[in-house]
Amino acid sequence: MYKLSSKPLISKAELSERVNSLAAEIAAAGEFDILLGILTGSFIFVSDLVRAMPKANEKGMRVKFFKASSYGDSTEHGSLKVSGLENLELAGLRVLLVDDILDTGNTLYRLVPMLKERGAAVVKTCVLLDKPSRREAPIEADFVGFKIENKFVVGYGLDYADDYRTLPEIMTMEEV
Ligand code: IMP
Ligand code: MG
Repeated sequence: MYKLSSKPLISKAELSERVNSLAAEIAAAGEFDILLGILTGSFIFVSDLVRAMPKANEKGMRVKFFKASSYGDSTEHGSLKVSGLENLELAGLRVLLVDDILDTGNTLYRLVPMLKERGAAVVKTCVLLDKPSRREAPIEADFVGFKIENKFVVGYGLDYADDYRTLPEIMTMEEV
């Protein structure tokens, strides 16, 4: 059993400031043809990130989402289920793949080659949060908002069994 922490790990103001600076880092690193957000956890992060990248829009960066999820509603990870990639035309495109959090790394480690198989010319990865101490797969993200310690976090799009996604701050779940 888990319960929600009483105070945020990352406040609204910290999120907003870092998302803005991250958008600037991404813009400085080059142009992307398409931003691919991984559902569901990245939906709030992506919507704030793209609004902090007005130049990307002028240059016609597209935004699409697809679904990737591990089986089961727990804080541990099973196998990966991917849907919505089937009809994505990526040939020759520079892709920015965005997820909420890099944890064991299994998700991004498996998704990057899938996008390359679909013809993507470049795949860069961006995550709001990174828990390096949990890593199992040999992958690091190209753009990271915050490195955090090994705590289960919710809010700002992240869930615990589909709850808490709409909290405006990043909160931790504590074992009780
Ligand atoms: P990975 O494959 O272990 O890197 O896990 C990535 C996915 O697991 C993310 O897209 C999240 O959906 C989920 N996840 C990992 N850690 C957390 C967490 O602390 N809170 C909420 N979801 C998490
Ligand atoms: Mg996710």
